[in-house]
Amino acid sequence: MSTALIILGAGKGTRMQSDLPKVLHKIAGAPMLVHAMKAGQSIDPDRMIVVAGHGAELVEAAAKDYNPEVDVVQQAEQLGTGHAVEQAKELLSEYDGDVIVLYGDTPFISPETLQAIATARETADLVVLGFDAADPGRYGRLVTEGDALLKIVEFKDASEAELAITLCNSGVMSAKASDLFEMISKIDNNNASGEYYLTDCVEIAVASGKSATVVRCDEAETLGVNSRAQLADAEALFQKRARAELIENGVTLLAPDTVFLSYDTYIGCDAVIEQNIVFGTDVTVESGATIRAFSHLEGCHVSRGAIVGPYARLRPGAELAEDVRIGNFVEVKNAILGEGSKVNHLSYIGDAEIGQKTNIGAGTITCNYDGVMKHKTHIGDNAFIGSNTMLVAPVSIGNDAMTGSGSVITKDVPDGDLALSRAPQENKTGLARKLVDLLKKKKAKRDQEKS
Ligand code: UD1
Ligand code: MG
Repeated sequence: MSTALIILGAGKGTRMQSDLPKVLHKIAGAPMLVHAMKAGQSIDPDRMIVVAGHGAELVEAAAKDYNPEVDVVQQAEQLGTGHAVEQAKELLSEYDGDVIVLYGDTPFISPETLQAIATARETADLVVLGFDAADPGRYGRLVTEGDALLKIVEFKDASEAELAITLCNSGVMSAKASDLFEMISKIDNNNASGEYYLTDCVEIAVASGKSATVVRCDEAETLGVNSRAQLADAEALFQKRARAELIENGVTLLAPDTVFLSYDTYIGCDAVIEQNIVFGTDVTVESGATIRAFSHLEGCHVSRGAIVGPYARLRPGAELAEDVRIGNFVEVKNAILGEGSKVNHLSYIGDAEIGQKTNIGAGTITCNYDGVMKHKTHIGDNAFIGSNTMLVAPVSIGNDAMTGSGSVITKDVPDGDLALSRAPQENKTGLARKLVDLLKKKKAKRDQEKS
């Protein structure tokens, strides 16, 4: 069956108390809208149409950033979910497949559920995705008779008896495109909110002799985000599932509840993830790597056998080859580290390329920024950078080269050379003891004068 997706994202989301359009609030590092698009992508739709309104430019940019082929239509005034879907009518005027409507604020619909909806459409004209809510709250209620769906009543318009129904509307709806737009053309705004409710399609379908039915799914899939509290719930739910999935795939999580993942975090099997780790977006950790406690990673790639942390920070562009070691209080940004190289303590490595089996001593800093521009540091293979070396970029250190501890390196160091750049040491015989004696006498004199 060919399907077009319409994803609604025009609403302001008043209850979010935010300047940002609701569907752009993030879960696990990606806007809710992107989660909905990703879910929809799983059924390989013919086309995807996003309805934008509040903050339309931002919503369009986020949608196209995820999928440049998506169509974005504008709903200038937000007159309700039915009116929102109608904005896609023109784009689909020639389309004779099915439409599935998704809500941008309902991010977790599973591929299996979307498939079940497509299957149900084979026998019913209109399919609505429902769920049994533990707390039905403000969700629309599904009024059923056996397997048949009779109507959807919105919270604000529901009677006492209808409010007692726990079968709720997820917002997901599917019908043949032409049928759906025909139904929508009959919706009015004669209700408690004065809005054109998409949900009215059910009564309209039934009245014209069409069949409507419910596909049920787990409540966790249909969690709708309308407030910051629900956003936090959605985040927690995502994390719980993503951790479980990693564990299922053979990753060791020593304290799963303390590991925070992004929507796109990839971790290979047999990797060990210790306690209290944050994975920002775009992180790949290969099989068998270890991320030690209290580390923060984003936009980076950690290869097999590498050990990162404890207390390490990998920022965008950090590329660690196999068996690299990054130790405590080390920050790496936009830097490639070759196989077996080590940066074990208290260093900043930014805008750098480091070869294989090179050792970077404690406290080393690549001074990459001159206040205006960023510059690059190159370090070869088997090099040894002494503790507390300042590498003032642009600068190159050759293969097998060394720098003396405490050096400020401003010139390139050729292969195999030792670079020393620090004030020569001078020892003054016995002067330390003399100095201490002198100071002690001074203090004794002062104490005497005071008393
Ligand atoms: C809607 C449903 C309700 C369901 C709930 C599930 C209607 C009338 N009600 O209520 O039955 O239980 O979702 O979460 O459909 N939007 C637009 N344009 C508009 C209005 C809304 O694009 O004019 C978009 C919003 O951006 C949002 C989605 O539609 O992504 C749902 O809108 P929202 O206002 O959150 O509807 P609910 O009150 O949650
Ligand atoms: Mg909602």
